[in-house]
Amino acid sequence: MPNQPANLTWTDGQVPVSTRFDDPYFSMQDGLAETRHVFLAGNDLPARFCDGFHIAELGFGTGLNLLTAWLAWEQSGQIGTLRFTSFEAYPMAQIDMARALQAFPALEDHAARFLAAFDGTCCVLPGLSFTMIEGDARVALPSWDGQADAWFLDGFSPAKNPELWESGLMAEVFAHTASGGMAATYTAAGFVRRGLEEAGFTVKRVPGFGRKRHMTRAVRA
Ligand SMILES: C[S@@+](CC[C@H](N)C(=O)[O-])C[C@H]1O[C@@H](n2cnc3c(N)ncnc32)[C@H](O)[C@@H]1O
Repeated sequence: MPNQPANLTWTDGQVPVSTRFDDPYFSMQDGLAETRHVFLAGNDLPARFCDGFHIAELGFGTGLNLLTAWLAWEQSGQIGTLRFTSFEAYPMAQIDMARALQAFPALEDHAARFLAAFDGTCCVLPGLSFTMIEGDARVALPSWDGQADAWFLDGFSPAKNPELWESGLMAEVFAHTASGGMAATYTAAGFVRRGLEEAGFTVKRVPGFGRKRHMTRAVRA
C-alpha cells in the first residue's frame, strides 16, 4: 500500500483531529491522564513490567501512548529494555507529532529524545526499542512474528473506524498475545467486547476515564 499520510485539522490549536475519520487523536479533556488510566492501569502497568516486556499497539498516532509508557517504565526503575511495536496505516508527519506532544509538558524531554532518534520506522534508545509497522493492521498483523505482553487497542472510535475493531483483527490480537498477556481499550462497545471474547480473551468492563462510564480489559489465560 502506498504511504498514506494522516490528514489533520487542529482543535484549540492543540489537539489533532483526523479529517479522514472525523475524530480526535486523544482526549480533549486530558490525553495523558486518559492514557495512564486506560492503557497503563488497564494492562496492570507498571506492576507487570520486566526486562524485554513487549507492548503492541493498534494506531500509533502522535506517539502519546508510547511516550507515556516509556516514562512510566523509567519512573518505575526498570532495568533492561521496553519493547514497543505499533501498527499505523496513516503515519503522522513528525512536525505534527511534535506539535501535538507540546500539550504534555511532562513528556517534553522524552518527546525530544524520541523525535531526534526516530527515523520514521524505528527508534532505539537506552531502555527503549520501538518499531512502527506501517500499513493497514488487518494486513500487517497476521504476518507479524511478535507476541505482546500488553496490547493498547487505540483505533478511532469504533463507530468511525470500525475496521480497526473487527472480530478478525481481534482474533489476530489474541494470536499475538503471550500467555498471561492482556489488552486494554477505552471503548466498551458491545461488538468489540464480543470480538475479544470470541477470540479467546476473558473480558471485563471496568470504569472508564472521565465522562466514559466503562472501558474494556481483556486477559489471555
Ligand atoms: C486514536 S488514534 C491513535 C492515537 C495514538 N495511540 C496516540 O498515542 O496518539 C487512531 C490511529 O489509528 C490509525 N488507524 C486507523 N485505521 C487503521 C488501520 N486500518 N490500520 C492501522 N492503523 C489505523 C489512525 O491513523 C490513527 O493514527
